[in-house]
Amino acid sequence: MKRDFLSILDLTPDEVSHLISKAKKMKRQWAENALPQSMRGKVLGLIFVKPSTRTRVSFEAAMYRLGGHCIFMTAQDTQISRDEPLADTARVLSRYMDLLAVRTFAHSDVEELARHATIPVINGLTDTFHPCQIMSDLLTIEEKRGHLQDLKVAWLGDGNNVAHSWINAAALLGFGITLACPDGYEPEESVLRKARSLGRGELRLVKDPLEAVASADIIYTDVWTSMGQEEEKAQRLKAFQPYQVNENLLAQAPPHAMIMHCLPAHRGEEVTEGALEGPQSIVFDQAENRMHLQMALMEWLMTGQ
Ligand code: CP
Ligand code: NVA
Repeated sequence: MKRDFLSILDLTPDEVSHLISKAKKMKRQWAENALPQSMRGKVLGLIFVKPSTRTRVSFEAAMYRLGGHCIFMTAQDTQISRDEPLADTARVLSRYMDLLAVRTFAHSDVEELARHATIPVINGLTDTFHPCQIMSDLLTIEEKRGHLQDLKVAWLGDGNNVAHSWINAAALLGFGITLACPDGYEPEESVLRKARSLGRGELRLVKDPLEAVASADIIYTDVWTSMGQEEEKAQRLKAFQPYQVNENLLAQAPPHAMIMHCLPAHRGEEVTEGALEGPQSIVFDQAENRMHLQMALMEWLMTGQ
């Protein structure tokens, strides 16, 4: 049976570990110019309704490096823009391609495509989740820290798609996450409820950013205005001001804490230039690992290995 990857919770903890180990191996093979050509003759389709630098390019580069090909489509280029049903699109594309990565607004659209596609569908970001990001972030943390045991993540800012996938990862793998979000910008209740029902890890919501980072290994932030929320920007800029990752906040955090950001970053908004470019920041290793993890993910989805 084909597998999709729409949410971190589509995986078991063993599968997460397997994908991280596999990505580490493929990263070594990449460095030695010895990657397997395991995708030769295979085609990855990408349907992107929102902009992207990292996700699109890391998927395309990953596919080419493994010997495969990509077809990139914006919604505008396809008949989706003229109301062709997603179910029909999924069934037709499944006849041409081997894998499909999708970036869009409603999570239910990716679910609909996955339901009707006979090929694996990968979530390249929806309004609700960004699971590829968190998988490669876990790889980065494991590389830097050596392991994921007793991990403590502090999330600062918006309880958004990236935060939701972090909450899922903490609940699945059993590590601690503390989110400091302003009133009205907390994570969705359904995501919190699901995570709590898994009964693993420690999930805390606080208001005080200093409290969130007090014992953090990772300080994570993301844009205050996600794609699709541009009209709310002025209001958000005001609400999120106390949640900026800056030098004052870092002074209150453990000295070993690392700064992560999925990028793109807005310097002077959610993070200062000094924090983002400082010695605690690992954001560019994070960005690189998108490609390595996605090589492993695509090979695993295609072969089960
Ligand atoms: N982090 C991330 O998904 O970046 P892009 O929006 O550039 O793909
Ligand atoms: N939360 C951001 C993530 C971008 C990678 C957004 O959805 O725009």
